Amino acid sequence: MSELAIKGGTPVVNRLLGKPWPIWGDLERKYLNEVLESGIWWRGGWSDEQVEKSKVASFERAFAAYQDAAFGVAVTNGTQALECALKALGIRAGDEVIVPAATFVATATAVILVNAIPIIVDIDPATFQISPDAIEAAITSRSVGIIPVHYCGYPCDIDRINDIAYRHGLFVLEDCAHAHGTIYKGKKLGARGNAGAFSLQMGKTLTCGEGGIVLTNDEELAKLVFSYHHIGRVAGAPFYEFHRVASNLRMTEWQGAVALAQLSRFDEQANIRDANARRFEDGLREIPGVAPLERVEGLERWVFYFYAWRFVKEEWPEGVTRDKFMQALSAEGVPVHLGHLQPIYQNPLFIERNFGPVAWPPGVDAPDYSAVYCPNCERVYREEGIHMPHAVFLGGPEDIDLMLDAIRKVRENAHELVDL
Ligand SMILES: Cc1ncc(COP(=O)(O)O)c(C=O)c1O
Repeated sequence: MSELAIKGGTPVVNRLLGKPWPIWGDLERKYLNEVLESGIWWRGGWSDEQVEKSKVASFERAFAAYQDAAFGVAVTNGTQALECALKALGIRAGDEVIVPAATFVATATAVILVNAIPIIVDIDPATFQISPDAIEAAITSRSVGIIPVHYCGYPCDIDRINDIAYRHGLFVLEDCAHAHGTIYKGKKLGARGNAGAFSLQMGKTLTCGEGGIVLTNDEELAKLVFSYHHIGRVAGAPFYEFHRVASNLRMTEWQGAVALAQLSRFDEQANIRDANARRFEDGLREIPGVAPLERVEGLERWVFYFYAWRFVKEEWPEGVTRDKFMQALSAEGVPVHLGHLQPIYQNPLFIERNFGPVAWPPGVDAPDYSAVYCPNCERVYREEGIHMPHAVFLGGPEDIDLMLDAIRKVRENAHELVDL
């Protein structure tokens, strides 16, 4: 008789692991009600008294301070946070911006949406983060910036990336959609380069359903981001005076209310995730054939959107692949997936060059993305990487032990997977 659930055995886990997501309570109700009864459902302008008191402005101040940044501008979503920041950073048509292959596609499409060209580079297989060497090799005379993604909330090598950017006169826009709350070398992420863009979409560790925020320490840049998110208005100027062509990317007070309430319980959740992740990592190190991403020096607290770990192919019997292992683990009741590991250049939008109304200068064109190949990202995507949702790490240590039991069971019965 087979032991593994995928072959008809009894699953190790037969209940929810962690917590259902999202989590909310009376504070969300209170703040939402305050917005409702105030009769002011939008954030308004910037500097008057009403705006100072708005939920959106309160969230901007609180979140910027929480992330160790001086300024925050809340927007409609993470994709538009990137677009808005790129415009404020002075992007011009045909400029090149370097992005990693392993990310959500918006990191790159935001670049195309502002008429610039994403240059997709490989990751470091040890950390799944954008490779500084690959960045350096991709710099051309048309490069203007880098969007490093703190993929899975794990910090990319931001100091080296800042150094490369400084030497080549490039901007650094951190894509922090996965990285709220991560502490690296004494500080949180998002204002370590020129600016950072966060998503507050419902799956994220800090959410208001849809939403985003741009952080920066640069006051002039913050003013430009504000203007670009507010149809080109400038703080302090007459309300019907517009200074640049820009969209309306304002966050509503409903979103501000929920984001502010969510922030009040964020730190506690972040600590639980990190403690559970450490327990999981200790367990993984004891099981042959699997391994955690080893924490880089200076990573004090890892807060992740997806939790990332790895399958070590060489340590399994011939015929047992990462995909079979993941199927077996899912059958045991452990939620595993591949997150954003598929190299983004494999999307039809890149292969078919469906870029929409781009207006690059004559003689300037995007690379042939069908010829782009990032071997590390391809290998991690096909053979090594494994992700799990963050909310799985919000329960007690018994949930972590149960997941480790399931992994151990699959390992001990690996021979059942050979002919799967
Ligand atoms: C790395 C990354 N960047 C940007 C985004 C875009 O954020 P949003 O969905 O809020 O537009 C996401 C969303 O998942 C993401 O994962």
